[in-house]
Amino acid sequence: MNYETIQVDSLTPRIGAEISGVDLSQPLGNQTFKEVHDALMEHQVIFFRDQRMSIDENKAFARLFGELHIHPMFGSDDIGHPELLVIRSDETTKFAAGSGGWHSDVSCDPEPPMGSILYLTETPKTGGDTLFASMYAAYEDLSGTMQQFLLGLTAVHSAEKAYDGRQEQRPQRRDETPPVAEHPVVRTHPVTGRRALFVNEIFTSHLKGMTSRESEAILGMLYEHIRQPKYHCRFNWRENSVAFWDNRCAQHYAMFDYYPEVRHGYRFTVQGDRPV
Ligand code: SIN
Repeated sequence: MNYETIQVDSLTPRIGAEISGVDLSQPLGNQTFKEVHDALMEHQVIFFRDQRMSIDENKAFARLFGELHIHPMFGSDDIGHPELLVIRSDETTKFAAGSGGWHSDVSCDPEPPMGSILYLTETPKTGGDTLFASMYAAYEDLSGTMQQFLLGLTAVHSAEKAYDGRQEQRPQRRDETPPVAEHPVVRTHPVTGRRALFVNEIFTSHLKGMTSRESEAILGMLYEHIRQPKYHCRFNWRENSVAFWDNRCAQHYAMFDYYPEVRHGYRFTVQGDRPV
């Protein structure tokens, strides 16, 4: 991939790149927008340092990539941005968002998010990293026999499984029915055409048409496979960093190892399509 307006430095051969030479608070020209999008498609998660954005500027950047997703269970309606998720941990936090296991955001939605953009303005002295895993690489490393077997399978993803009461510290939309959705276990990325594993330990409750013993055995094997460090990159946050990940081909895991320090920021999430 050729980049003319931004600099793109890979973090690992399979996933992750740091982008420099762009100010996300300003409107991006067409070429820069295209290059940022290309970098996301190529690396699955991209990182930016030293950004200073108001909530409106942050939202305008996210809107370049599509409609914004409104979380079915949580939101910041009270501050006038139903699409915004405030990500905050401090001395009162028992469970930090995203720290319960590897996941793709809100995969329980019938049309799960295409991408998530997290901007942290306050970070702990050490710790609080986010880990990302390539679901392309995890799929591509499976044997041909296993790939064929998985291509025929459907998984059920459930909000009730994911949000089991541990997250009551976040402002909750209690009147909403928690979504449940069925998705293929292997999805084809709508832009790159590459295949990616699309099951995760937070939202996926079971595989359709199997006994629970069969379903647990296959999902357990896949989760073990995904956890291998060769599919991962790890982002060490500093204040005013941004991570933008593609939920269609990457999973992430937020490390909650900094209690009682403060980690604070904002997440805008871009709407996606029905997985195929
Ligand atoms: C999330 O899962 O969106 C939270 C990620 C993080 O806080 O690093």
